[in-house]
Amino acid sequence: MDKVYIFDTTLRDGEQSPGAALTVPEKLRIARVLERMGVDIIEAGFPISSPGDFKAVQTIAQEIRNCTICGLTRARQEDIDVAVDALRPAARPRIHTGLGVSDSHLQYKLRLTREQALERGVAAVKYAKKYVEDVEYYPEDAGRADPEYLYRVLEAVIAAGATVLNIPDTTGYTAPQEWGALIRGIMENVRGIEKVIVSVHCHNDLGMATANALAGILNGARQVECTVNGIGERAGNTAMEEVVMALRTRQDYYQVTTNIDTTQIYAVSRLVSELTGIPVQPNKAIVGANAFAHSSGIHQDGVLKERTTYEIINPRDIGVPESEIILSARSGRHGLRHRLEQLGYMIADEGQFEQIYIRFLDVADKKKTVGDRDLEAIVADELKLFKETYTLEHVQVSCGDHAIPTATVRLRRADGEILCDADTGGGPVDAVYKAINRIVGVPNTLVEFSIDAISEGMDAVGKTAIRIQADWPQESEQRTLPRIFSGYGADTDIVVSAAKAYMHALNKLLWIRQEALNNGRKM
Ligand code: KIV
Ligand code: ZN
Repeated sequence: MDKVYIFDTTLRDGEQSPGAALTVPEKLRIARVLERMGVDIIEAGFPISSPGDFKAVQTIAQEIRNCTICGLTRARQEDIDVAVDALRPAARPRIHTGLGVSDSHLQYKLRLTREQALERGVAAVKYAKKYVEDVEYYPEDAGRADPEYLYRVLEAVIAAGATVLNIPDTTGYTAPQEWGALIRGIMENVRGIEKVIVSVHCHNDLGMATANALAGILNGARQVECTVNGIGERAGNTAMEEVVMALRTRQDYYQVTTNIDTTQIYAVSRLVSELTGIPVQPNKAIVGANAFAHSSGIHQDGVLKERTTYEIINPRDIGVPESEIILSARSGRHGLRHRLEQLGYMIADEGQFEQIYIRFLDVADKKKTVGDRDLEAIVADELKLFKETYTLEHVQVSCGDHAIPTATVRLRRADGEILCDADTGGGPVDAVYKAINRIVGVPNTLVEFSIDAISEGMDAVGKTAIRIQADWPQESEQRTLPRIFSGYGADTDIVVSAAKAYMHALNKLLWIRQEALNNGRKM
């Protein structure tokens, strides 16, 4: 049976989702899970786009040895030079280069004739080939291009040495039958196509990304580009978990396999959601909270008699923890580690594990029992994967129906200095955020705030997810654009949980700003 290569672009196209800014250690953590689950190619970033992206590609190229590591470029020598540099440590480097192919892109974006664009694409492939063997070419906006011109471009870049042809439906415009026919047309009409792998890269603007990717596979594509939870530009990309589980569940129909260990899907979905701050909608296929919930009596009755009456996927196959195991303070380090591993968290760093254990004991002390969702909240909270400029030491609030909400906070700065301040606000959380702002002094706007009780009962752990927006100077442009930073926090006290989420977002902003300053950016 043919194999379909899984090309994960969570760290590049996925990170282009508004608010998904990830730090380098966070990207590395995701890359490690992708490697463990058997992803074939990781697109780790767009090295010339920012020093942060360069560093992420370089670090992942250094650390991840079992996947091909790919860097995106435009069809320009300077982009390719920077990507070659970032990919130098990789065991298996790949350059992903290309430019527009639709008349819309040629005329309005690139201002090039078809011939000029074709020559530029060929030159980019030849240039990249001087440095790496594996060169993937993308004719951007192929979904809206003239197929005859597209075939010519593809033939020319194959002749120039491209090893993979990525066919992107950049704007998510096409319908599955149409997309399948385009891939079939490429397989039948492009000279030399048997020498390369054809890849599909689909966007979800009309909700067709997974359907289109599968139509591409049915018509000859053997690589699929996807992101965890389907995150990405605008409405996102093909969701990795959807395409992988469709190919597995309906192998009888698609007749292909992948290298993915599907039992890691649940853990990677949770991790990406936590680190990007982008929640997974409850009815999301495969990984949504309701994906395996049966609420109607008839369905429940059927599933109790025989699971397969209403379930086409066994939740165990995607790593949903089999049954809720309740831990208590008596479970000890061993019990905690064992359950964390079952949930997909391999904590290699002993210091980090000890911190998680202390937090676990604290929750067990307050709640007596600690469920999986409590554990996930603690781990997510602890693995914030960058150095905090400020640590929340103390938060105290007084409020009530006849009181002005007033908060006092105490923060410890990285240099050890203790800073204390207080303020009033429209509510307790507002008062806490204002008091923190008085100390940290970073202008920002709160654009999203949500708080959830993530386990049952009055003593449940409250999990806060927030997004803040700050002005961000643009490289080589004299202007700023808003940039979003997400944060999350968890605590049995919801005001403390909200304070932790705010500190997380602020610390992330400060860390990314410091990284940019260290790389010579003016901030
Ligand atoms: O959607 C797109 O066209 C892309 C390319 C850069 C491959 O992301
Ligand atoms: Zn894309």
